[in-house]
Amino acid sequence: GPTAPSFPPGFLWGGALAGNQCEGAWDVGGKGLSVADATTYKPRLDPTDYQGAHTVTTADVQAALAHEGTGMYPKRRGNDFYHRYAEDLDLMQEMGFRSLRVSIQWTRLFPTGEELEPNAEGVAFYHRLFAAMRERDIEPVVTLHHYEQPLTFSIDRKGWHERALVDHFLRFARVCFEEYGQYVTYWLTFNEIDSIFRHSFTTAGIVLDQFAGMDTEEAVYQALHHQFVAAAKTATLMRELVPGAQMGVMLTRTLHYAMTCHPDDALVALRTNRENFLYSDVQVRGEYPTWLHEEWARKGFHVDIADGDLEAMKDGTVDYVSFSYYMSMVSTRDDTGMQKVSGNLTSGAKNPYLDVTEWNWQIDPKGLRYSLTELYDRYQLPLFIVENGVGARDVLEDGTVQDDYRIEYFRQHIEQIGLAIADGAQVLGYTPWGCVDIVSMSTCQMSKRYGFVYVDADDEGNGTFDRFRKKSFDWYRRVIATNGGDL
Ligand code: BG6
Repeated sequence: GPTAPSFPPGFLWGGALAGNQCEGAWDVGGKGLSVADATTYKPRLDPTDYQGAHTVTTADVQAALAHEGTGMYPKRRGNDFYHRYAEDLDLMQEMGFRSLRVSIQWTRLFPTGEELEPNAEGVAFYHRLFAAMRERDIEPVVTLHHYEQPLTFSIDRKGWHERALVDHFLRFARVCFEEYGQYVTYWLTFNEIDSIFRHSFTTAGIVLDQFAGMDTEEAVYQALHHQFVAAAKTATLMRELVPGAQMGVMLTRTLHYAMTCHPDDALVALRTNRENFLYSDVQVRGEYPTWLHEEWARKGFHVDIADGDLEAMKDGTVDYVSFSYYMSMVSTRDDTGMQKVSGNLTSGAKNPYLDVTEWNWQIDPKGLRYSLTELYDRYQLPLFIVENGVGARDVLEDGTVQDDYRIEYFRQHIEQIGLAIADGAQVLGYTPWGCVDIVSMSTCQMSKRYGFVYVDADDEGNGTFDRFRKKSFDWYRRVIATNGGDL
């Protein structure tokens, strides 16, 4: 294979954020509460205990609806991007960003999701944001649904299990295309749509205690079906309203290697990877794979598929494949007695050849190359790495952070992207996660940092929220300036 990385001209170097983890201003400008505004920081939680971090009950939702402060809800504070976006964009421009992935919070435009007309102040905010990006030559990559649906759906509507959400979402998407189509070419519908099985509350507004007496896996498949239909209809709507725009799928690529060459290990890895590919397979090909129909039949599941749904899915396929990549995992026929690791709200056997981060996520740059090559061979569509990075505890000293560990992580990952490109994969761009420090999705910690820019805030929300360039800031600036030549 090739030995020298290569990046095409116009490669979209940049960074990625999500509104619910950065904007804060949870009650400003008429914004309604979202599922993210109901997730709490738990100071005594083992940060690698993701299940503990993510069990949300109806009582929790009601408590969140009644709570009028930021308190233990750090995503209500974010990093104050809502007020400081211009300063952040200046820093990104200084690094040479050509793209920035952000999300539009549904609840800024439709506070409960059921309004028929959008909230003008919310609409105006994203006009300001996208115009400011364009002024700095930063290409917006926009997610319409990043764990941000209106919280009231989780009480009144059983989340995405209820079909009505498809139309509510399309009303929101229409406003986004009509208002922001003038600035935005690259769109995404559901962030990490596969995460619906790992954390169905944040992904689909599903509170499991409301499904007593039902098979919850079946209920989640129903909600997933509604998201697939909504995603496809949104892609079709985009083509109608924003000529030339591109719609992508967004997958958490959780690459699984077989623990050994035992054929049973290989089969477990094959099945696990196939389950992960389900989501991109459906959104690229516009249909459910046969194995899933077989599985539903075997388990006795009934998923309501309305007239026209399958046709809509066939019509609304995607133009590109985006994904997040943080780690690889290991599949084995029997993991008794094996050491475990975590990652993106999953856990599995430890790979003896890889190191882990402080949060026990395995570090595997070559897995990123493997994923790019495999995804490109599978779909023959342009790829976009819309999340990657290392969560770490940074120490601010003399106005900066000596984050050599982050530079090393990125150096190795970017090198592997360049090798995958040299080996034939078409890659549109690379937007590392949390490019300015934000609140962690899984643990709601501010102290789990990903950025090139340090934000002076702690887990409880103390601090000035001022921004500081880390050592990696200058390093990434040089990488972009040399189009990946100087790593
Ligand atoms: C992805 C999500 O799963 O991973 C992001 O799309 C999230 O929202 C990111 O922040 C990193 O995870 P965490 O839990 O470290 O914030």
